[in-house]
Amino acid sequence: MILVIGATGLLGSEICRRLSERGESVRALARTTSDAAKVQRLKTLGAEVVHGDLKDRASLDAACRGMTTVISTASTTLSRQPDDSIGGVDQDGQLQLVEAARQAGVGQFIYVSVSRNLDVECPLNTAKRTVERHLQESGMTYTILRPSFFVEIWLSPALGFDFSKGTARLFGSGQRPISWISLGDVAEFAVRCVGHPAARNAVIELGGPEALSPDEVVRTFEQVTGRHFEMEHVPEAALEAQWQTAADPLQKSFAALMLGFARGDSIDMRQTLKTFPLREVTVREYATRVTTG
Ligand SMILES: NC(=O)c1ccc[n+]([C@@H]2O[C@H](COP(=O)([O-])OP(=O)(O)OC[C@H]3O[C@@H](n4cnc5c(N)ncnc54)[C@H](OP(=O)(O)O)[C@@H]3O)[C@@H](O)[C@H]2O)c1
Repeated sequence: MILVIGATGLLGSEICRRLSERGESVRALARTTSDAAKVQRLKTLGAEVVHGDLKDRASLDAACRGMTTVISTASTTLSRQPDDSIGGVDQDGQLQLVEAARQAGVGQFIYVSVSRNLDVECPLNTAKRTVERHLQESGMTYTILRPSFFVEIWLSPALGFDFSKGTARLFGSGQRPISWISLGDVAEFAVRCVGHPAARNAVIELGGPEALSPDEVVRTFEQVTGRHFEMEHVPEAALEAQWQTAADPLQKSFAALMLGFARGDSIDMRQTLKTFPLREVTVREYATRVTTG
């Protein structure tokens, strides 16, 4: 049975859906505060929903009992409760999960981290790399997935890429290529890694099928919609100043991610796609999906 932590999130729920579709038995960790509709969707998939929290070690011990595999996508960057923090959850909580899984005799632990290229110093990065290191030293079979920017998040109105209005806020010059990836493809890689020999003790950088600069992304949206986009480029110097003066760990981490966006994140996927053949979603396909319904 496979335990998914972060199961009510965008990526975790997609992983649960794909695992269930493949006939895998899934245990999904939800919190008492998790959105009821999301929990219900997990139940409808056939997942066994258990309650727990990364801050609560006993709940993790109970959740890990009897599991062959753990997949963790959880993060407080977008979905958090008042007592959540990057240090307390993304770092200490994930570390306790690794320890709980190890003690429960879990065979494989799949951890969703972030791209190696996004190594601007910040609490989120420290948390991700610290958890990666502990997992690698745990003695469990580990698979560390390091995705680039998700199109569904970074090319969305929530982050200033408003394709319905034809406006795009871009971080940096707009010239540095990024290997944009769809979260469905990240979920597919995670699912295919379960029990896969090539995923044994592996660190896998994950990008989409092509590296496009943000300006090229805007041109793609313009071609797909036949409409001109107004672009705003946030200068890299302004992002650096924001990063230097950030008041709290979350602000610092967001500023670091925006700096990473500005500096680019190109990932060569040729080798990975030979091992895990997958036709990944292109930015053009994503643009078509979100603008033509
Ligand atoms: N967005 C990107 O471009 C990008 C790029 C690279 C890597 N990533 C990584 O991808 C992963 C998945 O992101 P996502 O989009 O699926 O995030 P999401 O939709 O915000 O989901 C976060 C999940 O974490 C859970 N969670 C938060 N605090 C928790 C706690 N204390 N205990 C247990 N669960 C907790 C949330 O549960 P509730 O529903 O109960 O709050 C939710 O299920 C993250 O690790 C992120 O760092 C993202």
